[in-house]
Amino acid sequence: MEFSVFFNKKKEKFYFKIHLNSNQTIMRQKIVAGNWKMNLTKEEAQSLTSEIVGINNDELGTNQQDVKLILCPPFIHISTIKSLFKSTKNIYLGAQNIASQDKGAYTGEISAEMLSSYQVEYVIIGHSERRQYFEETNQEIAQKIDLTLSKNMLPIFCCGETLELRKKGNHIDFIKNQISESLFHLSNSDFEKVVIAYEPIWAIGTGKTASSQQAQEMHAEIRKHIASKFGQQIADQTSILYGGSCKPNNAKEIFACPDVDGGLIGGAALKSRDFVEIAKSF
Ligand code: PGA
Repeated sequence: MEFSVFFNKKKEKFYFKIHLNSNQTIMRQKIVAGNWKMNLTKEEAQSLTSEIVGINNDELGTNQQDVKLILCPPFIHISTIKSLFKSTKNIYLGAQNIASQDKGAYTGEISAEMLSSYQVEYVIIGHSERRQYFEETNQEIAQKIDLTLSKNMLPIFCCGETLELRKKGNHIDFIKNQISESLFHLSNSDFEKVVIAYEPIWAIGTGKTASSQQAQEMHAEIRKHIASKFGQQIADQTSILYGGSCKPNNAKEIFACPDVDGGLIGGAALKSRDFVEIAKSF
């Protein structure tokens, strides 16, 4: 077991962050997931993956051995990049979305069953770009969560508020509602498989990161909300990632927050060195 002390900027408070090792039952997984979005050709995807695997194997020291890296390429690159993972133990394969239907006449869609047949392990669900450009609702996202779990894959559920909502002071209630409507129908044993990613929309791709205080405040609220439904033990085990302009130069401060368990990374996940440096920031 490892204890670390966290001081806020004004040195007013401190927290103990507890990392439990894999022999113990309660464990919060540290995760850095790369969301490649609609970027990279086949050759670029191959190069990026090989570089990440190489740097990961050479440089992630004993301290970071327990950090999971999840690569989430566009669907079309899934089988190509999986073959490059070789025997690397801490790198996992993720997808960026799934269809909300099981199978059938839905031209252009990709089902949970198809992804699972390619050994996909994680699926990002409810990313704000899907909500905004493809009008995904909390209800549709709930269906996608169920389909993902039904094929033994693990959802990375995204939530996040607009700047307008934050300015009005409604951001905490908004996030709680996104979580309740898409996840609170799950059984305890299904909920335990979900990773949460808090991604304030105003910070995604804008270069504006939430401050560590803003991230910690929201992550603590999310954990409290989970505890109110699924109990404190499950809440304590849930990995809650921060996303939104997370880079090597700000990851350390954000990951030091007691309720932040890693990051969902967009732009910086397209640069092998930056992505691994973020994973080294715990
Ligand atoms: P960003 O994207 O790191 O480029 O802000 C994060 C995300 O959309 O998941």
